Amino acid sequence: MKFETALTITLVLTLSMPLAQVFAADAAAGKSAYEKTCAGCHGADGKGNAMLGAPNLTDEVWLYGGTLADVRQTILKGRNGRMPTFGEQLDADRIHLLTAYVYSLSNK
Ligand code: HEC
Repeated sequence: MKFETALTITLVLTLSMPLAQVFAADAAAGKSAYEKTCAGCHGADGKGNAMLGAPNLTDEVWLYGGTLADVRQTILKGRNGRMPTFGEQLDADRIHLLTAYVYSLSNK
């Protein structure tokens, strides 16, 4: 499914769903963006890659915090010169969906 299609479906569903389901739909919609943009370093399953120094995103261990705000900040601004900055190349909707997806990996 194209990203734009997924986003539209998410927005349409949002109108009639409780918050937890809205969030789950956003997280699901973020998966394909994750696979394209992040999986190269953090792995398709999000478990990280020790050789690249890319941490596991599926556990409870966080270098920079695991709240939605922390994860969003990490994606927007990068971390420590090693986690790239995505705030310039991804739009706000995509950052939102990616944040929801990453958060969902450790909050099932
Ligand atoms: C070029 C490889 C690379 C790519 C691509 C990449 N990351 Fe990272 N990421 C890293 C590294 C390396 C770190 C650890 C930085 C450090 O140790 O200070 C990191 C850290 C993180 C953290 C912080 C983890 C923690 O424990 O606090 C999150 C969240 C994260 N990345 C999410 C993403 C997302 C989402 C994407 C895709 C939009 C992405 N990363 C793309 C290499 C990458």
